[in-house]
Amino acid sequence: TQFAQHLSTQRVPAEERAAILADPGFGNFFTDHTAIVDFRTDEAGVGGWRDARLEPYGPIALDPAAAVLHYGQEIFEGMKAYRHADGSIWTFRADANAARLNRSAIRLALPQLPEELFLESLRQLVAADQDWIPSGDGESLYLRPFMIATEAFLGVRPAREVSYRVIASPAGNYFGGEVKPVDIWVSRNYARAGRGGTGAAKAGGNYASSLAAQLEAEAHGCKQVLFLDQFNDNAVEELGGMNVFFVYRDGSMVTPALSGTILEGVTRSSVIQLGRDRGAEVTERTITLDEWRTGVESGEITEVFACGTAAVITPIGRLRDGDEFIGAENAQPGEVTMAIRSQLLGIQTGAVEDTHGWLTRL
Ligand code: COI
Repeated sequence: TQFAQHLSTQRVPAEERAAILADPGFGNFFTDHTAIVDFRTDEAGVGGWRDARLEPYGPIALDPAAAVLHYGQEIFEGMKAYRHADGSIWTFRADANAARLNRSAIRLALPQLPEELFLESLRQLVAADQDWIPSGDGESLYLRPFMIATEAFLGVRPAREVSYRVIASPAGNYFGGEVKPVDIWVSRNYARAGRGGTGAAKAGGNYASSLAAQLEAEAHGCKQVLFLDQFNDNAVEELGGMNVFFVYRDGSMVTPALSGTILEGVTRSSVIQLGRDRGAEVTERTITLDEWRTGVESGEITEVFACGTAAVITPIGRLRDGDEFIGAENAQPGEVTMAIRSQLLGIQTGAVEDTHGWLTRL
């Protein structure tokens, strides 16, 4: 597919960009361009992707009746571009993101995007905006592909007009500053997703529904919220925007099994593999809040961490359940947590051999 190039005449000045890259934070700044491919369904009912293009970054003109604004027909992905020491630019497990985007598309009744078009959209955007890739420890250019229902109508049905876009944002630590353990709030009032719902899809609505719980977490001094399956013995599901792992005293690791209500994180599946590469037994199974509590209290669970594309690997400090705290105050990041983090980042940034063929050159 050819992407028409409408390049920006008003790029962010180099000096301003350098200041941003010196301390990007997460999700605050955006590059000069956006990649776009539109989907239209013709009179005969045949849909197709068209008008692939690169445009200057800027506001989207949408009809006020666009379906996405009313019924939330939207999906997205999160991935990153890394600059290696030789200047080449790579992304991580793009095939997994392409596949997940299409699983999400099926669930949200959006059209599937051919993997080649997905990859090319990333290539085009990163080629135009490669000066925006930061290179500090744990830093990268975060890529946010997303798909929105743009057709204007108020009936509740799948839109026949859709727009797929990619934006990019220089990224440092999701939680700001240095890597340090974050406290997590147990959501007792809100669930993230239910059986048969959209929990396994990367849909904006799942994150919208996490926000009230996230506010509760912040009001109690916590950085993220933990969602449970109240109808399954308080099984641990996931955090507001990341998956969770437990490290046991014997070196084994556990992460909640894919239940249909949690997101199949690309980082999650990579951590499972990296754990096994280290010789650890890694199990995907149900783990309840009680098991978390008793495991930490008995010393059976030695480390807990969160993982995601945005979060990378973030150690979890205390779990706060109402007025009760599980885990020690001011805990240090765990050894296994940090070893897996550096292995993962090493592969992504080219410092460690990519034995699984996870990198794609952009
Ligand atoms: C990601 O990790 O890429 C996500 O999409 C999660 C969000 C909290 C930023």
